[in-house]
Amino acid sequence: MTDSKDTLKEKVRQRYAAIADQFTGQRETAPVELVDSRPPEPATCCQPAGDAILIQAADGMTCCSPADSTAATLAEALYALEELDGLPDTVTAAALGCGNPTAIAGLQPGEVVLDLGSGGGIDCFLAAKAVGPTGCVIGVDMTDSMLALANQNRDRLGLTNVEFRKGEIENLPVESSSVDVIISNCVINLSPDKDAVFREAFRVLKPGGRFCVSDMVTEGEFPPQLRANVNAWAGCITGALDQAEYLDKMRRAGFVDIRVESRVSYGLENLDQLDPATREALTRDLDWSTVPDDVRLYSARIVARKPEDGI
Ligand SMILES: C[S@@+](CC[C@H](N)C(=O)[O-])C[C@H]1O[C@@H](n2cnc3c(N)ncnc32)[C@H](O)[C@@H]1O
Repeated sequence: MTDSKDTLKEKVRQRYAAIADQFTGQRETAPVELVDSRPPEPATCCQPAGDAILIQAADGMTCCSPADSTAATLAEALYALEELDGLPDTVTAAALGCGNPTAIAGLQPGEVVLDLGSGGGIDCFLAAKAVGPTGCVIGVDMTDSMLALANQNRDRLGLTNVEFRKGEIENLPVESSSVDVIISNCVINLSPDKDAVFREAFRVLKPGGRFCVSDMVTEGEFPPQLRANVNAWAGCITGALDQAEYLDKMRRAGFVDIRVESRVSYGLENLDQLDPATREALTRDLDWSTVPDDVRLYSARIVARKPEDGI
């Protein structure tokens, strides 16, 4: 990896370590300027745009976020209340995603699920419920503090079918052809090497295995000077690829039946109409007046499959 990719990844790691440390009371790294001093609720990665969310369902279905303007936390905006039932605050308040990938994954009892960038573990815990005691869930994350939080949450929930592994999604610590379903929530956009992520995802899936992620994509490209803003990258904004390029990279990795199930505009073109908390989260790291008008940011639900004869 080049120096700049290493530096970017380190900034991402520092940002999420600082967030996790607020929940565990530990400290993986020196404090960084990337995260402000507000309490960790609501979560601060990619906040939905509340009332101003525009819903665009490619297939006419409803969108991946309930766009609930009454939601008190990001988790309440992204997940059904029944899903959150029984999960402690250290899980729900640490949710940093932009969707709900298990809702589109059609998980079955006994399946092996892999969560790329598992954070505090919320999607792993939902998946663990769906696959039951005969299945298992592996969460991979590169940030020690996040792994500590996730393990603490897992022990608190008493789950025995969830394992968290330290690793990078560009080089997964997972055996080839061993996973039924890959999920991921707002993580691939953070990677400086998305080709490697899709290559690795393809490698670890069993033939016929499913890929079901929520991620940030754009229409239009962020210009290089905005991509160079590491804070905005680490905040799940300027690392997002143009949707067509994202899908093309998946195709080149070997995936088939690639579909954008639905997507939600994060309303950056409507900043004035956003609630103050969301506007603050989206503008903390980026001056949106510098973003060209033709760049739009979306949270998309993307699904695909490894072919039956894929190796
Ligand atoms: C925006 S948070 C999302 C966490 C979780 N998926 C959720 O929905 O709450 C991004 C997470 O991905 C992890 N991460 C970012 N880049 C990564 C990489 N290249 N390899 C492994 N983990 C990564 C971070 O440590 C962080 O925990």
